Order: sequence, then C-alpha cells, then structure tokens
Amino acid sequence: MTQRTVTLTDNATGKEYEFPIMEGTEGPDVVDMRAFYKDTGMFTYDPGFTSTASCDSTLTFIDGEKGILRHHGYAIEDLAEHCSFPEVCFLLLRGELPNHGQKETFKDEINNHTMVHDQIISLFHGFRRDAHPMAIMCGVVGALSAFYHDSLDISDPDQRWRASLRLIAKMPTIAAMVYKYSIGHPFVQPNNELSYAENFLRMTFSVPAARWYISPKVVRAMNKIFVLHADHEQNASTSTVRLAGSSQANPFACIAAGIASLWGPAHGGANEAVLRMLAEIGHKSRIPEFIKRAKDKDDPFRLMGFGHRVYKNYDPRAKVLRDSARDVLTEMGVIEEPLMELALELERIALEDEYFVERKLFPNVDFYSGIILKAMGFPTSMFTALFALGRTVGWVAQWNEMMSDKVQKIGRPRQLYIGQKSRDFVPLEKR
Ligand code: CMC
Repeated sequence: MTQRTVTLTDNATGKEYEFPIMEGTEGPDVVDMRAFYKDTGMFTYDPGFTSTASCDSTLTFIDGEKGILRHHGYAIEDLAEHCSFPEVCFLLLRGELPNHGQKETFKDEINNHTMVHDQIISLFHGFRRDAHPMAIMCGVVGALSAFYHDSLDISDPDQRWRASLRLIAKMPTIAAMVYKYSIGHPFVQPNNELSYAENFLRMTFSVPAARWYISPKVVRAMNKIFVLHADHEQNASTSTVRLAGSSQANPFACIAAGIASLWGPAHGGANEAVLRMLAEIGHKSRIPEFIKRAKDKDDPFRLMGFGHRVYKNYDPRAKVLRDSARDVLTEMGVIEEPLMELALELERIALEDEYFVERKLFPNVDFYSGIILKAMGFPTSMFTALFALGRTVGWVAQWNEMMSDKVQKIGRPRQLYIGQKSRDFVPLEKR
C-alpha cells in the first residue's frame, strides 16, 4: 500500500511540502511532523497541544466523542466492576490482565515495598500540621530518591521495575501518613494481609486504641475510585511526568513533578474545587445564579467538574461514580446527602442549558468523586492526594513506556518569539 501523505503549500513561494500520515489501531490518524522544521524552516504552533500527539502509546484509548475509555482494549466500566486495583496496575504495566499465579506474585512484589524508610517519619515532622496534603506528598515522593538508591539507574530495567513497584506500594502509606499527620494521630503501619484498598483505608482511619472494621462495600468503592483514576493517556500530569523523564531524571523526581501538575484546579484539584463550589451554592434555588456566572466571560468562575479537553460526551468514569455514590451514601448511613441532591440537580440544569449543550460540556470524573470521598470521611483537602494515589500507576506505566521507546528524545518544544529585536545596550545611568 502506498504511504498516505498530506501536502502543505506555502502560498508566498508556491513551494509544496509532503508529510507522511501515521495510522494507529483506533482514533484519529497523525501527521508525522518531525521533518517539518528541517524541510520548511518553520515550527508548528499549538499552545496546549490541542492537535499534537507527543508520543505513541499502547496503554489507554479514549474516544472523547463517544465517551469511551479503555486500557489495553478493556472497557473502564468492566475493569471498575470486576478488577482489583493491583490487577489493573498489572494490566497497565504488563499489557495483559494477570492470571491467578501472576496476580499472587504481583501482590507479593507490591507487599515487599509497602513500608517507608523510618527516616521518612522525620521528614514528615518538618512540615506544618496544616500543610496541604499535596504539598507534603510532592515533597515526600520527591524525597524517595534520597532513600532508594538501588532503583535510580534508569538504564537498568530491573531497577525501573523496582522503582515502579515502590511507588505503587508506598503511595497508600504516604497518603495515609499525610492524613494522620494533619490530625495528629500516630501513623499506622501497613498490613499486607489486606487488599490494597482496605490496607489504605485502615492506615487512614484506624487508631491503635480501637478495633478496626470497615464495610466491604466501602472497600469496593475505594477500589473502584483507584481503578477509575489509574490512567488517562497524555493529560497534563502524565505529560509532565514524561517531559521530566525525558531528561533522564529519576522516577521518584518525575512522579513528584506529576503530583505538582495534578494539584492544579483545572486538573486533579477539581475534585476539591467541586465540593467547595457545591458548598458555596448551598441550595438548589441558587443554581441558576451559578450557571449564569459560569457562562459569563467576564467572570473567572467555571462550573467545576464540568468539561474536558477530550470528552465531548459524558465522561464514562463520572457515570460509574454517579452510580456508586448512592451505594456508598446508603452504606455510610447517609439517608439524604444534600450535596448529592444538589449535584444531581446542577447536572440536570446544566445539561439542558444551551451554553453547555453547544460546547459539549458534561460532568467529568471529578464531579461525583468528592461526594463519595466525603461520605467515606475524607476531608476535602485529601481528595487530590487520593487522585494522585490512583494515578501513580498510570504515571509509572507511561514513564516505563517512554523509557523503552527508542523514538523518544528529550522533550524540548520551540516557540514563536514576539519580543524585542536586537537593540543597543543602554548603560544604567542613561536608563
Ligand atoms: N464551565 C464553564 N464554561 C466552560 C467550562 C466550565 N467548567 N469548561 C469549558 N468551558 C467553556 C470555555 O469557556 C470555552 O468557551 P468558549 O468557546 O465560549 O470560549 C469552551 O467551554 C471550551 O473550553 P476550553 O477552556 O477551551 O477547554 P479546554 O479543553 O482548554 O479545558 C478544562 C478543559 C477541563 C480545563 C475545562 O473544561 C475546565 O476548566 N473545567 C473545570 C475544571 C475541571 O473540572 N477540571 C477537571 C478535568 S477532568 C479530570 C482531570 O483532568 O483531572
């Protein structure tokens, strides 16, 4: 078959340039622009990478128009319903769902690394108790590179694997420690006999003075939340991890960079912002006022938990979470959750509004997750830290994919310079 190409014509010179088209297994084709600068002497301009593929990847497929999300071909709805989070981690890292033996071996491999170095406790004590969980998480995860020197050689696949396991295994411990530190409780050590999700909930909510019990339904919901956040192809934080990794920085530093990027309210910080927004709205009667503000271009207010760069349809993760929210609320004995009622009504009104319909703005993953997490007992400030916990496997898997991709080189975008042209230097006394 002949190679498909696109031809660009420079109107000024009439010169034609031809570029090959690359085809994936699904989704839009891609024009290979690698030779563009060499051939034309020009750069392409695409702030926010709205039309730019930065890599090829086998991990995650999203069809934003249809609201589809798949990891290695498996629908997110099936993974959320049937898999434990470590199974999904294995899938993202190895490309296949594990069989029984592989599942057990992987669990053991993770369990070897659930504790953190004792000195990390001293590190925690350097933070203010009222520090934001993401500030502590960013610092502590970055600091792991100061503790685990046997997993810093990124050219060694064994060390990369060890670093990956360490990050996935230690994130629940670190996230739970962040919470415990903020409320002044003693840290709870991991218990490897429990599932990943239950172990995390125990480290977060149990106290040495009392017996620990948690409803299996709540554990299942926690597991589901981790699965739904596991990976989402080349979003801002994942691209940050890849860009940091492209300079051959160590994996702990790269994941700390990802955590920093996730923190922003346009990205993972939105789950926290949604709850603040719902609290501010306060009552159904005030929804029209906030919808009006969201549509006003002179008002910076946006409907948090709404809209997505890729999804122009209902985010499939939001659908799963909306359905789970009721289960968790009932299980936690919450008969009527005013925030849930408010969120459902806000969604209903927004989805009927021309502004949102025209722009295809639907609820995203952050819209309902906060309501579930709040019902479980997490403070709002922990929400984004939980997103980071779940997303760590995606960051790690994407980083590994990049490290073994021969085509990848240091990420180095170019620019359109619009500053001053060359001018004569003016000495201080003449300025
Ligand atoms: N409320 C009101 N208007 C919105 C919203 C919103 N939440 N989102 C987008 N718009 C409007 C926007 O003003 C623009 O209108 P116009 O065409 O008239 O200028 C149009 O919709 C397109 O928006 P955009 O800003 O060009 O889209 P983007 O792809 O650059 O931004 C987004 C995507 C997620 C940053 C944005 O939708 C947003 O800020 N949403 C609220 C924050 C949020 O929920 N973030 C979580 C994203 S999903 C999970 C994650 O990534 O962590």
